[in-house]
This record gives sequence, C-alpha cells and structure tokens, in this order.
Amino acid sequence: MSLNHPIDNFSNLNVWIIGASSGIGEACAKWFAQAGANLILSARRLDALDQLAHAIRTQYPQTQVRSIALDVNHQDQASTVVTEIFEEWPRLDILLYVSGVYTPVQADYFDLKVTEQMIQTNLMGPMRMVSLLMPHFLEQKSGHIALVGSVAGYSGLPKSLVYGPTKAALLNFAESLYHDLKPRGVNVHIISPGFVQTPATAGNDFEMPALISAEQAAIEIGQGLQKGEFEIHFPKKFSYFLKFLRILPYPVYFWLLKTFVKT
Ligand SMILES: NC(=O)c1ccc[n+]([C@@H]2O[C@H](COP(=O)([O-])OP(=O)(O)OC[C@H]3O[C@@H](n4cnc5c(N)ncnc54)[C@H](OP(=O)(O)O)[C@@H]3O)[C@@H](O)[C@H]2O)c1
Repeated sequence: MSLNHPIDNFSNLNVWIIGASSGIGEACAKWFAQAGANLILSARRLDALDQLAHAIRTQYPQTQVRSIALDVNHQDQASTVVTEIFEEWPRLDILLYVSGVYTPVQADYFDLKVTEQMIQTNLMGPMRMVSLLMPHFLEQKSGHIALVGSVAGYSGLPKSLVYGPTKAALLNFAESLYHDLKPRGVNVHIISPGFVQTPATAGNDFEMPALISAEQAAIEIGQGLQKGEFEIHFPKKFSYFLKFLRILPYPVYFWLLKTFVKT
C-alpha cells in the first residue's frame, strides 16, 4: 500500500531541486528532465547550476529549466527566492531537498563550528524551506515534499556524532510532517540513501559497502516517487541490514559495531 499519491507521469510537473549542483541532486535533475518535468535548480554554486541547466536544455529542448542561487542557511535569501519562484511558476509539484554536508565527527574531534554547519544545512535548511513553502502547498492542497536524509539516521554509527543526529531528526521531522500534511492533500517522502558515489563520499578512506552511483540513486528516488513511497530507501540489501541492526538489543548492537566497523 502506498502512503502517498503515486506519480503516474512527471510530464510538465514543476520540480524544485535544492542541492542540484553536484552528486545526487545533479543526477536527479537529469532523471526528472528525461521524465519530462520542468526544473528549478538551486544550490550556492550558480556556475555549476547554469552548466547543468544548459546541458539539460541541449538534450531536452522542451524542458523549462531555471537555475537560482540559494544558500539554505540565509533566511532572507531563501524567502526572496520562494517569492520569485511563485511569481514565475503557477505551482510547485515537487520540492526535492537534497542539500547536505557530511564531515566525520567523533568524540576526540568534536568541533562545534563543524557541528553547527551540519545542523544548519542538514536540518534547519530543510525546515526553513518547508516552512517558507508551507502556505503555498496548503493553498494548492497538492504536491510532494521529498527530503533527502540518510540510513545514517537509523541509529548511532561511528564518525557520525553529528551527521547521524541531523539525519535522525530529519526522519522524525518527515514523519510528523506526513501526519500533518497527508490529510491536507500534500505528500511527504523521506529518502534514505546508503553509500552513493559523489563528491561528498570521494574522500572516504574506507571501503563503502554496497556503494552505488548517483545515477542509480536518482533512479531509485524517481521510482520511489512514482510508487508513492513514504520512505524511499536504497540499496535495499544495505538499508534493510541497517534497519535490522536498529531493532537489536543494545548489547548485541554495540558488540557488532565494535567487532565489524573499523574506526
Ligand atoms: N553520498 C552518499 O553516500 C550519501 C548517503 C546518504 C545520504 N546522502 C545525502 O545526500 C545529499 C546529497 O549529497 P551528495 O552525496 O550528493 O553530496 P554533494 O555532491 O556534496 O552534494 C551536496 C549538495 O548540497 C548543496 N549544499 C551544501 N550546502 C548548501 C547550502 N548551504 N545551501 C544550498 N545548498 C547547499 C551543494 O551545493 P553547493 O555547494 O553548490 O551549495 C550540493 O549541491 C546530502 O543530503 C547527503 O547527506 C548522501
């Protein structure tokens, strides 16, 4: 049973991707373009967005693509961008919030500046954007809010002292949001990727289990939206394994982490 409205056809839907300048967001932009959607692309690096918009227009000339610079941590800028979008576009069908930052943090390297930056971009950012868009979604009585979290939000993992809590909070936020918005006609999705090959993971100095490409991640996200899934998690063998870990008794859970995860 799908918890959200399935999307049969992306043709001419208006999709705003925040965090489209690289990695998963960029791959999703290309996936939505081939599916026939119109796109608004945002992130801080406007040059990267413009290049992506140009590539999409060249390949799919019928697609409307607009790039708009946005730092999700700037309230005034975010508010202005939302106003601008609704002046130009009659409605927003899908908000895909992808932006996020990952810096490994552990007990002996617990930097509060890094902590604040991750909380801002990974948690306050999506909350800010959802709050600014809320009146529009409520008025439309339709649309999809899709937030990119992580399987790292399922339970506490090594080197994830801050990243994990931001993603756990985002999952909780999405659950509450679904409860509030579904009766009002607005769909909510949480996306929980495992390891994806992107600039964010390029510096990882360990072997990433079940690593997939950004293009594969985009297909999973697109198909999950098509099916109307509340949680779009992938790759399944890794995400189900982590879901299983979190239901184990703590002594077993911590023993497994200590035995099998190198820190
Ligand atoms: N890669 C993985 O293995 C993996 C696994 C699970 C979850 N995720 C999640 O997937 C999402 C995308 O990550 P990725 O791997 O694709 O990394 P990425 O290539 O580094 O992409 C991160 C995106 O976030 C944007 N961003 C960062 N700070 C921002 C800000 N202040 N305002 C607006 N945009 C900002 C970046 O654009 P600008 O720098 O241009 O602003 C970029 O477009 C993140 O939420 C990440 O936590 C990734």
